[in-house]
Amino acid sequence: MTAAWLVLVAILSANAVYAASVGENQSTMYDTIVVGMGASGTSAASTLAQAGRRVLVLEAQNRIGGRVCTVPFGDGVVELGAEWIHGQVPSTVYDLAIKNNVSVISQDISMDVFLSDGSKGDRALINDLVDFALQSCEDPPKEPQPLGQCITNRLMDYIRVHHPDLLKDQDFLTELLAFLDLVIDNYEATTSWNDITTESKYRELDGDQHISWHKNGYKTLFEILLNTYNNGPGLPTLEYKLNKEVTQINWSEDPSKKVVVTCKDGSSYTADNVIVTVSIGVLKERHTSLFNPGLPPKKLDAIQNLHMGLLGKIILRFDHEWWISDYRSYGFMWRAQDRLTVPDDVWTRLQAASCPMGCSKVLTVWTSGDIGRLIETLPEDVVKRKTMELLRRFMGANVTVPEPVEMIRSSWYTNPYTRGSYTYDHIDSPLHPNARADLAQPITDSAGVPRILFAGEATEATHFSTVHGAVDSGRREAARLLPKSKI
Ligand SMILES: Cc1cc2nc3c(=O)[nH]c(=O)nc-3n(C[C@H](O)[C@H](O)[C@H](O)COP(=O)(O)OP(=O)(O)OC[C@H]3O[C@@H](n4cnc5c(N)ncnc54)[C@H](O)[C@@H]3O)c2cc1C
Ligand SMILES: *[C@@H]1O[C@H](CO)[C@@H](O)[C@H](O)[C@H]1NC(C)=O
Ligand SMILES: *[C@@H]1O[C@H](CO)[C@@H](O)[C@H](O)[C@H]1NC(C)=O
Ligand SMILES: *[C@@H]1O[C@H](CO)[C@@H](O)[C@H](O)[C@H]1NC(C)=O
Ligand SMILES: *[C@@H]1O[C@H](CO)[C@@H](O)[C@H](O)[C@H]1NC(C)=O
Repeated sequence: MTAAWLVLVAILSANAVYAASVGENQSTMYDTIVVGMGASGTSAASTLAQAGRRVLVLEAQNRIGGRVCTVPFGDGVVELGAEWIHGQVPSTVYDLAIKNNVSVISQDISMDVFLSDGSKGDRALINDLVDFALQSCEDPPKEPQPLGQCITNRLMDYIRVHHPDLLKDQDFLTELLAFLDLVIDNYEATTSWNDITTESKYRELDGDQHISWHKNGYKTLFEILLNTYNNGPGLPTLEYKLNKEVTQINWSEDPSKKVVVTCKDGSSYTADNVIVTVSIGVLKERHTSLFNPGLPPKKLDAIQNLHMGLLGKIILRFDHEWWISDYRSYGFMWRAQDRLTVPDDVWTRLQAASCPMGCSKVLTVWTSGDIGRLIETLPEDVVKRKTMELLRRFMGANVTVPEPVEMIRSSWYTNPYTRGSYTYDHIDSPLHPNARADLAQPITDSAGVPRILFAGEATEATHFSTVHGAVDSGRREAARLLPKSKI
């Protein structure tokens, strides 16, 4: 025997001993490890555990929920992440709330419009134009276009027919388009409506688009999924660990090998397969170190070609509701002459505020895209002062506006475990029509058995960017691992 042969024998037998000792200790063995305990990971784990599978969920943060984050605030709760159930039919999320008798409330998000000179805007007119803008490109042009361009063209046609008098006021039209751009950005988590393609495959569910969990909080969804709602007993084969940042997933094409998941604290766990649910923002930053061996080219392309947006919230609590409005959603529209008197900075590009349903005396100011990412990095006192200047200018002309008693804000981009809010269909996405499907495709061993599976909002072609999409993606990947009879 040559020396090289001896070394090889030694390595092979060491591996065999290692595999046997892991295999023998059933108490450290799981059928599936789920990485991440957001909506998709929790739904995947819940579905598998309900079918009797032994599941371990590893979550890096100190809480369940991921991009759903209900926090106690004032006399109730606020949502730093997802706020509404978008649509009812067919919605797994809405159905779970209803089946469990959790009251959810439809929220009117039509805007009361405030102008930069302290006066009120024409609410009926602006809402008509906003509604038109939101729907105008649902039937997209043949050739993909930037969404803003499509909306602008169709809106001008609409104005020519329905509001011809507006054509005389070029200043108003300019400010209207700037306002609508920001409205769209607050939906899509983008910097500009021209970053979005008209070719998006996103589909709304039927029914009400803005249903709030109000005082119950979106966190209730997780209690329902984990069977702990109303003192439920939980799921006996589901184990989860918080503060467990996964740093490496070792897998092999060899069907006899298990997948080994290692955490930052040095612990490691073994299972037949792993469902990865981390966001596209996290995958972009970490895929090289996270997967060993690395991901195949198709998967890398998908990660590169999907785009993570940013939606943010600055949430202020007051000692009383000083603002005067019959509505709970507010739009801020600049007048051209006022715009000239202020420096063109990020603070002129905040366009909306709203009253959350989970508590009283609270205003949420919304941010998106580059501006939202920048605001996350600014000090607390600057954000508070600038946000109050904005609220005073637009909403405070006829009232004494008090200082807020408390402020919290989101940091979804700064957060290393999210790196953004949700994905959007970027203008380049028509060049990569299968990116979401490619991301969703599992990595199999040489026998064709799925070993590394991918769930999460970004993997859903038609319902990305939502909680219901994330929940469905978790169920989709769980179903891949279960016999048809158990789903
Ligand atoms: C501000 C904001 C507002 C929104 N509004 C709405 C709304 O009104 N309605 C709606 O339907 N949707 C909304 N969304 C989108 C919705 O929240 C997301 O689409 C959904 O929650 C994503 O779930 P997910 O499971 O795909 O990902 P995540 O929730 O991000 O779950 C992934 C989990 O993986 C964890 N993780 C990351 N890295 C590691 C690691 N290395 N090791 C272990 N764990 C790790 C993360 O901490 C996280 O918990 C909003 C999102 C934001 C941010
Ligand atoms: C098996 O797992 C249990 C529980 O984690 C642990 O206490 C024990 O030391 C393990 N045994 C072996 C042989 O690894
Ligand atoms: C919901 O309420 C109905 C009617 O009150 C009741 O029959 C049902 O058992 C309740 N379901 C749950 C899950 O509590
Ligand atoms: C403030 O009062 C003036 C005068 O009545 C009115 O024109 C304006 O719309 C009011 N502004 C707000 C924000 O209510
Ligand atoms: C993962 O694989 C690398 C390289 O193949 C190896 O060095 C490391 O020890 C493995 N980790 C585990 C936990 O198996």
